[in-house]
This record gives sequence, structure tokens and C-alpha cells, in this order.
Amino acid sequence: MRTNYCGELRAEHIDQTVTIYGWVDRRRDHGGVIFIDLRDRTGTVQIVSDPQRTPQSYADAESLRSEYVVKAVGQVSQRPPESLNDKLPTGQVEIYAESIEILNAVSKQLPFQVSTADTENVGEKLRLKHRYLDLRRDRMAKNLQLRHQVVKAMRRFLEDKQDFIEVETPILTRSTPEGARDYLVPSRVNPGNWYALPQSPQLFKQLLMVSGCDRYYQIARCFRDEDLRADRQPEFTQLDMEMSFMSQDEIIELNEALICHIFKTVKNLELSRPFPRITYADAMARYGTDRPDTRFGMELVDVSDIVKESGFKVFSGAVQSGGQVKVLPIPNGNEAISNVRIKPKGDIFNEAVTAGAKGIAYIRVRANNEIDTIGAIKDNLTEAQKQELLKRTGAKPGHLLLFGAGDTTTVNKSLDRLRLFIAQEMGAIDNEQINLIWVTEFPMFEWNAEEKRYEALHHPFTAPYPEDREDLTTARAQAYDLVYNGIEIGGGSLRIYQKEVQEAVFKAIGLSTEEAENKFGFLLEAFEYGTPPHGGIAFGLDRLIMLLAGEESIRDVIAFPKTQQASCLLTDAPAAVDNRQLKELEIVSTYQPKKD
Ligand code: AMO
Repeated sequence: MRTNYCGELRAEHIDQTVTIYGWVDRRRDHGGVIFIDLRDRTGTVQIVSDPQRTPQSYADAESLRSEYVVKAVGQVSQRPPESLNDKLPTGQVEIYAESIEILNAVSKQLPFQVSTADTENVGEKLRLKHRYLDLRRDRMAKNLQLRHQVVKAMRRFLEDKQDFIEVETPILTRSTPEGARDYLVPSRVNPGNWYALPQSPQLFKQLLMVSGCDRYYQIARCFRDEDLRADRQPEFTQLDMEMSFMSQDEIIELNEALICHIFKTVKNLELSRPFPRITYADAMARYGTDRPDTRFGMELVDVSDIVKESGFKVFSGAVQSGGQVKVLPIPNGNEAISNVRIKPKGDIFNEAVTAGAKGIAYIRVRANNEIDTIGAIKDNLTEAQKQELLKRTGAKPGHLLLFGAGDTTTVNKSLDRLRLFIAQEMGAIDNEQINLIWVTEFPMFEWNAEEKRYEALHHPFTAPYPEDREDLTTARAQAYDLVYNGIEIGGGSLRIYQKEVQEAVFKAIGLSTEEAENKFGFLLEAFEYGTPPHGGIAFGLDRLIMLLAGEESIRDVIAFPKTQQASCLLTDAPAAVDNRQLKELEIVSTYQPKKD
């Protein structure tokens, strides 16, 4: 019987005889005495096999190799002063092995060194192909445990303090309205018909409110067939919640308390409340994005009115055709950023172009507030306009002002990208800081220029502010996102529960009564049988844990993630299937492999 985990042995265990199990992390032969670091999920502990003290273990210790699975019995002893290790929680002690039993050997060459002590950089592909080995590593094992602790804290808070109940919702279901592509599953029993995997439990959680559930939560798996990034996976996990009879402020407050509980439990950090709030309009104006990283300044400044009449056509033209001119002010930017980097082919130029801009104009502020520019901007701004620009942007000597001019979306996108790129490079971001901020008052709709119609920014069940109902196209939604250091970790809204409002919203997005009936008829019908006012939120669990763990990709906090190409390197999914299976499902593939 195991008496202890490896990583929990301390000075208080000295003189106890323990039985431990684990994997050989490292084995070192020190002139006759063999040291073995034995690892389990809690950490490592040093085992000593000394032919003088415990001769019976020696032959076994000699035959051990990395990653062998071992049972060891021995006495915990104080390490001699020269081998104390402060960095290791078990570094005070070692175990004199009385017996070492090999339970399982390694019979193949290991694809990489698993040892925690090894800092070797293993490629992600190899790690994902042998994920079970990767997960033995300290960093990954810690991430999985952190994930578990976070979920546990969520459950404790929601169930024990706030009376939520967990309800599971179907995975084989109909298309849900989150706006990504669906994963489809053919139905054998109903040939020609398809289930969709849920993009979120949105519709079911609203139905649960109609059914009187009052406070629902679920650790819910969601599926979205969209382009993948470091913070996006095709299947990911949400902490999904829905509540009846609560105002937006009450929902926000409850969720702040939840987030604070998580930080306190897993990080022992007290966050101050309430979290700051910023409206969508304000966030777009000041940061060019609806998920601002507020850990540093460099806020954008709208200077459209100053340059509207200027002789510099790039500026005046942009404003006159309905766009904007905005400035990204960079303190000490003159020193840090050379002209070459801003001009075509420079890295900063390239960043702006990637975000859709055609280029960037700039001004350098020299001593005595003298302005230094090149090109057309130099001769086409009056002295008054230049001075007004300095005043508006609060620029001081040493400042570099980068200008974005064009349609508002492109200006915001490119300046947001440059702001983050430059702040990161200049070391303006304090990585220890935790900025959680609510973004509120999103617009209900955004214009889809391609399809020439409005579409719901959040989803079509989001309630508009009652005072904005007159003109829904410009209405604000009672929606809120939680942004953590510039990453959207959660979003939710109050829902529509009145038939007339829902019909007006469908009309605004060009959904006919028949289409709405066809897509969401079951929900609309349910709403006619007594619906409580309700609202909710969903957190991206993977993203929250990624940030808590200090990782840069959600792949590092998911046990078995997919690659950027949406495949699982471990199981080789997705994979071709037998024709027999397709036949049974009455499916024929039209896929033709591309010829090189
Ligand atoms: P939303 O679509 O904003 O809202 O999703 C909620 C949160 O889920 C996370 N997220 C993702 N995480 C990893 N990979 C993805 N592909 C991915 N997509 C989203 C984000 C996001 O903030 N039903 C609504 C919630 C509601 O209204 O209650 C919803 O799903 O962190």
C-alpha cells in the first residue's frame, strides 16, 4: 500500500518507513551510491541506494532507467548538509531504499526527455503526439492541477454559496446561434438529417429558465468550426451560467465575487472590487478594440476635427469620406523607434499593413516642442494645426506620434495592433499586473457589408436597453464582456423575454418570421408559456486558466488539445472512415484530394 506521494515528503516524515510509487525522473551514479529522483503527480523525491546501508536495493537501482515505473520502500532521512536543496519542496530529505521493485520498464526509446530537471525545448508537435509523456512533465501536470482547482473553486462558490445547480445539456442538438460554423453529425436513424454540436448551451440554458430552474451552471463543452489561434480551439470549455430575476448589475456583481473567489482560492490574491467598467464606445475610442489591455497607457486620440481641413489629403480625405484620423502617442518613442521601422518594409509598417492600413504617417516631437516630420505631412499641416495636435495628444519632447487615417474600422484595428506590438517591445507592460475590466453597452448589431445586412453582435436573444428600442439599428445591448489583460475571458447579456421585442430583433437582422420559426420555433413557443426575465454569461475556462497559469496558449492548459489545423496528433483525428460506415449513413463524399 502506498503510504505517501513523492512530492509531499518533508522533514516531519524523517525516520518513517514509507512506500511510494512513481516514475524515474533521473538516475545518477555517484561512485557506488545511486541517486534516483522518483516522480509522481505531486513532485519528486530523492531515493538513495547505498550498498553499505541498504545492499538489497542496489542491484535493482542499478538497472533503473528514465521513466521506469517503480515501487520503493525505505526510510526517510535527513539529507546531509552538502546535499540540501532549497529549490525542491522535498529537498530536506531523502529515502534510503530498502527495496525497489520495477513494476514496468520502458521498452522503447523515449521520444524526448521527460525529466523536470531537463530544460530542453521539445517541439510542440512531438509533445502533442506523445501527450501522455508531456503531461508527466512538471509544468503540464501543474497546469492540469490548476485547472482542476479552478473548476473546484467555481463549483464550490456557485453551488455552496449561490445555490446554482448544474444541469447537463445535449451534445447532439440543433445549430445554436453563436455565429461560427457548426460541426455536423449525420443521423443514421433519420437519413439526410444532421445534428449540430453545440457552439454553446445558449438555447437550452434559456429553456431551463423557462422551466423554473432559476440558477443554472454547467462546465460545458462547446464546438466551433472556426479559424484557430493561440486562444481558440475547435472544442473548448465554458463555465456557462444563466439566472432568472436578476438585473445586469446583480449579474455583474455575482460574477465579480466568483472571479475574486477563484483568485483567492487558487492564487491567494485579493482582487479589489468593483472591477472597472468601460463602455464599448469608449473602449473603441480610446483603445481601438472592445478588449482593451489597460495595463499601460498609450491611449488613442481622435484628431479628425483638427486635420479635417488640412492640406494633407490622406488626413482630410479620410475624415471627409466618413472615416477618422487617430493618433497613437508613444512616450520616448523617438529613441526607441527609428524611421526605417515605420517606412515601407519596416516591421512597424508591416504590422499596420497586416491590420489593413495602407501605411502610417508620423510626427516626432523634439526639444522645445519642435515637430519633425517627413513627406507630405510636413508641408501640409499649418503651425496652428501642429500645435493643436501636440496639445490634444499631450505630447512631450521625445514623443513619437503615429497616425492612422482611413475608415474607422481599419484605423482602430491597425492602431490597436501597433499599440500592443510597441508596448510589448518597449517593455511597457507589467506582466505581474492583473487588470480585469467589464466592457458594457455593446451595440446590438454590426453591419455586414458583404451581405448588406445587420447581424447580432452577441446573439439575437440579447436584450436592447429599453430606452433604445425605438431604433434598434443603433440600439445598445444589455451585454457585457469580461476582459483580462486584453483577452476576452467571458461574455453574456440580459435576454429578450418579450415576444414583440424578439420579433423586432429578428426583423432588424433580416430574419423572416418563417425563418425564425424554422430555426428557433421551439424557443419562441416556450417563451409564450411564462418566461422569467433572465440573463447569463459564459466564461472561456481554457482562457481563464491559461492566464492564471501564465501560459501563452490554451493548448497548454487542455489535456488533449488540437493543433492549429484542428487535428489531434495523438489519435490522428480526424480520419477517413470505412465506406461501409458512410453507406450506412447514406453519405457520399465529394472530396477530391488536391493534386500537387
Ligand atoms: P461567447 O461566444 O462570447 O458567448 O463565448 C464565451 C466565452 O467563451 C470563450 N471562447 C472560446 N474559447 C476557446 N476557444 C474558442 N473557440 C472560443 N470561443 C469562445 C471566450 C468567450 O468570452 N452563449 C454565450 C454566452 C452567454 O451569452 O451567456 C457565448 O457562448 O472566452
